[in-house]
This record gives sequence, C-alpha cells and structure tokens, in this order.
Amino acid sequence: MSLAPPSAAVLSQEELAITAHELKSAPPERVLAWAERRFGANAVIASSFGAEDVVLIDLARQHAPSLRLFTLDTGRLPPETYELMETIRKRYGLEVETYFPQRERVEALEFSQGYFSFRKSIEARKECCAIRKVEPLRRALAGRQAWVTGLRREQSVTRTGVEVLELDKDHGGLVKLNPLAAWSAKQVWAYIRENGVPYNALHDRGYPSIGCAPCTRAVKPYEDERAGRWWWESAENRECGLHVSR
Ligand code: ADX
Ligand code: SF4
Repeated sequence: MSLAPPSAAVLSQEELAITAHELKSAPPERVLAWAERRFGANAVIASSFGAEDVVLIDLARQHAPSLRLFTLDTGRLPPETYELMETIRKRYGLEVETYFPQRERVEALEFSQGYFSFRKSIEARKECCAIRKVEPLRRALAGRQAWVTGLRREQSVTRTGVEVLELDKDHGGLVKLNPLAAWSAKQVWAYIRENGVPYNALHDRGYPSIGCAPCTRAVKPYEDERAGRWWWESAENRECGLHVSR
C-alpha cells in the first residue's frame, strides 16, 4: 500500500530550518508543546510502551494533551506489554489506537513458513517485520501531519544520526519528532522514577529494549541496550523498518 503524500508540504523549507534550529537542544516538553500548537490532533505519538514511550506519554499529558496515541500490535508482544498498555490506558484515561497487521498476510506467512520464520534469515525476519509492523505503521500515519517517537541517538549504531525534528520522506514527508533524541538511558530512568511513571515489568528483568516476545531477550550488564533485539543478527541490521529509510 502506498501512502499518498500530503497535498502540500507540512512545513515550508523556511519553517523547517527555523524550527529545527529552535528545537535542536530544547527540552522534550517544549518539543511536545510545539507539536501541540502546530498540529494538535493531527500529530500522533507512536508507542511500544518502552521506557522512552512512557516518558513521552507522561510529558504529553501535561504539555500536549491533544496528541493522539497509537500502538502497533504485532500479535507477538509479551504479556507484560499488554499489562502495561492497560495500566497506562487506565491511569491516564487514554484512548490508544491499535493497529493490527493485515489478517490475510499473517495467515499466508504462517501457513507457508510456520510460526518462527524470522529465525531463518535476515530477509525472512524483515518480511515478518514488514507484515507485522511496517505496513501497519503506514496505515497508522496515513492522513497525519506529524508523528512522535522515543528514538534516542545513544540507543545503537543505527541511531546516531537521529535529530529532534526530521522530515520523514518514507511516509510522505510528514514531520517526525524525536523529543528524547539527546537523552541518555539514565535520564529516561531518572524521569520514570521521579515521576512514578508505570513501566514494563520486563525492564526489571534485564530487558532494556522490548519488542516482540520471540525476538527480544534480556541483556548482560556489559551488553549494549539493544543487544537483546534480534540478537542473532549483527548490530547494524537490528532495525525492523519503522525508522530506516528504504
Ligand atoms: S524498533 O523499531 O526496534 O521496534 P524501538 O523498540 O527501539 O524500535 O522503538 C523506537 C520507537 O519506535 C518507539 O519509541 C516508538 O516511538 C516506535 N515504536 C516501536 N515499536 C512500536 C510499536 N509496536 N508501536 C508503536 N510504535 C512503536
Ligand atoms: Fe516478526 Fe520478530 Fe519482527 Fe515481531 S520483531 S514482527 S515477531 S520478526
């Protein structure tokens, strides 16, 4: 499915340059407040309910309450993630928009390749991610003007170039905001603890980064924070396609 580009650029070149400069080193709440003023309910937070995402949800309730929230339910999430989704939904009184993969595509994948096709090769893994995450993301972003993610530069070698404000050419040129781009894991956790924000129980069991259950494991203290994601692949491959230019 191709995503129709917005009829006019969401931001002019001039506004893009000025705002990118203004927000580059701004605290996350200012980035969210700008999204609220500029886009209101046409901006959406993408949440997997990881540590960064719960920080963003907590901040957005205070500084950007009109922003919508969506999650991609791949059908393979750990039970702890569903528990947290429910806790957050109730605690903040949030409406969470859930996007599921297309039923026919999952049925065909499992029928032809079984239930763990992603273990066979990088291509097979990317095919599963394409069906369960990338295609639903395109639907989730259709018609929006901006999306907000919890990406941080420190997370991995694939994310060192993340900017607070980007134009997302893969999704029709809409605005992509990464308010925590410059934050460290330590800052994320300090915020969670100081503000009593609910978080995924797996974090206390050695999972710094959490995705689908069969593709996520705990990490050792000396390993980097995304080492438990698709751990059988090399670090530069460990992206599911949500954030990588094709
Ligand atoms: S991933 O691309 O490898 O899955 P990661 O788990 O680090 O990414 O999450 C980075 C950001 O991508 C999250 O902060 C969130 O904004 C978005 N994201 C990742 N997974 C999902 C999901 N299942 N639903 C919605 N947003 C997601
Ligand atoms: Fe499939 Fe694993 Fe990607 Fe989830 S993370 S969509 S189970 S390959």
